[in-house]
Amino acid sequence: MSDDSRPSRSEARTAVVIPAAGKGVRLGPGAPKALRALNGTPMLIHAVRAMAASRAVSLVVVVAPPDGAPEVKSLLDAHALPERTDFLVVPGGETRQESVKLGLDALPPDHDIVLVHDAARPLVPVDTVDAVIEAVRGGAPAVVPALPLADTVKEVEPARTSGDPEPVVATPSRARLRAVQTPQGFDRATLIRAHETVTDDVTDDASMVEQLGLTVVVVPGHEEAFKVTRPLDLVLAEAVLARRRLNDGF
Ligand code: C5P
Repeated sequence: MSDDSRPSRSEARTAVVIPAAGKGVRLGPGAPKALRALNGTPMLIHAVRAMAASRAVSLVVVVAPPDGAPEVKSLLDAHALPERTDFLVVPGGETRQESVKLGLDALPPDHDIVLVHDAARPLVPVDTVDAVIEAVRGGAPAVVPALPLADTVKEVEPARTSGDPEPVVATPSRARLRAVQTPQGFDRATLIRAHETVTDDVTDDASMVEQLGLTVVVVPGHEEAFKVTRPLDLVLAEAVLARRRLNDGF
């Protein structure tokens, strides 16, 4: 396709890839993290609804645990989701990076903006999703939502034996640090190139685009977009849902 025949960024269609194939061992024993319930509904369903809440999103690709695609598909079928959004389920891989790549491979050709959103961030507000999409539409090849840090961060020399004191090697200026969330938004061709080019182990997709030498920009994140990682995060997530229900007048 020539560049002329492509839709402009302002009318580009947006797809979301949700890697949900992790085991979530830090949450303790039990179902894979994405399938844990929050107020009776699996975390993954909250995450899918959070993405589908954006009118700009027309497709959500869920990357399921490698042997769990049929289960995840029935789960999506069993929950009410917006009709304007299409859903696909594909099996994931060994690492988050592999899972995202498998999700990208499943994308039909007609989506020029791709968001990648962790199933483990089920409560991200739609305004954050829309702000990410807007910034990609505005021409940024990669966009991340992020928040300033409350804690001072130290770089250490990791201990060789667990439990040994670790020497601090640096204290980066907190004013220049941001804690990065998802959804991260990308020009589709850029994200695919990043996944084809970068083979280092990374913890987010934007850092792969950084390694291509392109500029990644930050938009304001949201405190409710936190990652559910440890048991206490489940308590916090249910408290957020309870507050939303109160505010919605139920
Ligand atoms: O482990 P962590 O919390 O960093 O995982 C982030 C996201 O990546 C989670 O939504 C998890 O389900 C997903 N993941 C995946 N495939 C893996 C490992 C993690 O889709 N092999």
